[in-house]
Amino acid sequence: MNHYHIAVIPGDNIGPEVIAAGQQVLQALEAHGFGQFTCELFPWGAQHFLQTGRAAPENICDLLSDFDAIYMGAHGDPLHVPDRMGSQQLMHPIRKGFDLFANVRPIKWYAGTESPLKQTEPIDFVVVRENTEGEYAAAGGRVHQGTREEVAIQSSVVSRYGAERVMRYAFELARQRNGKKCVHCVTKSNALAHTMVLWDEVFVQVAAEYPDIRTTKSHVDAMSIYVITRPSSFDVVVATNLMGDIISDEGACVSGSIGLAASANINPSRQVPCMFEPIHGSAPDIAGQGIANPIGAILAVAMMLDWLGEAEAAALVEASVEMLLADGRIRTPDLGGRSLTTEVTAAILGNLSL
Ligand code: IPM
Ligand code: MG
Repeated sequence: MNHYHIAVIPGDNIGPEVIAAGQQVLQALEAHGFGQFTCELFPWGAQHFLQTGRAAPENICDLLSDFDAIYMGAHGDPLHVPDRMGSQQLMHPIRKGFDLFANVRPIKWYAGTESPLKQTEPIDFVVVRENTEGEYAAAGGRVHQGTREEVAIQSSVVSRYGAERVMRYAFELARQRNGKKCVHCVTKSNALAHTMVLWDEVFVQVAAEYPDIRTTKSHVDAMSIYVITRPSSFDVVVATNLMGDIISDEGACVSGSIGLAASANINPSRQVPCMFEPIHGSAPDIAGQGIANPIGAILAVAMMLDWLGEAEAAALVEASVEMLLADGRIRTPDLGGRSLTTEVTAAILGNLSL
């Protein structure tokens, strides 16, 4: 039996509520003989910021580097801590420090859930979001701070190296998936004539290495329409950091609820721990009520298991979630139900044992 060491960062607000559910799934799998999962908790985020002045220690990657994977909830507590602190001191140091360059976000409409759209075609695509540069490169600064002449500059960075590797990842994924064998490039090269023109050029070059995969392309404003008007037409979508962030939230929403969507932050080298998390935020508005949807966090466990090589356990978790959603009786308010996080989790745990 394989033994895995998982670093668990529950985060803030509903983060700990949904991560507790994911950890229960890991415990149940362990009891079923699917592996041993030793979890170590790192209580970083807003509380840690208030206590220490930092959302996480500066040597965060040293502290995490020996783990097999990182399981993260959501961070942010904007009433008490400036919103950027968690991303600057916790999330981005992990994504960038371990060079987890592909943020893989499956967007799937599950049977038994309702899409807000009037449409019945299946929705099943994956957003591959560049995760280390783009609009989040943190290149910039503020000049004449606090004066009337104050200037802030935040430059986007697209490198040939960065674009190439994330696009290759997208094409490889399209090859592997049993889908439409198509990669859709999200761009904005009609306005951003430096970064996004390079992005487009690299896309054409990488696409030439994959003659078996079709390509399509749209500007991000048009893409925000297509995610609503024809979400079923996509297979793999590749986008820069901020564009991928937005498109994946939109895709999750049209597929039923952002509470269902999971993500993997991947560096395929296997030299560093990869990170798995739901794509939703910390949702302070519903925190503490016990009604957060745990499914995004539980499907993040499935993605983690898959990455660790435990494909059978991953498939079991996904099937248990699918069964619960198809049944439709037990669901949290974001899906139109009245169930609690604990009730949804218990039902999924029950399905695991069937
Ligand atoms: C996400 C989140 C983060 C991001 C925030 C919390 C900085 O929205 O993981 O999608 O924008 O990357
Ligand atoms: Mg986001």
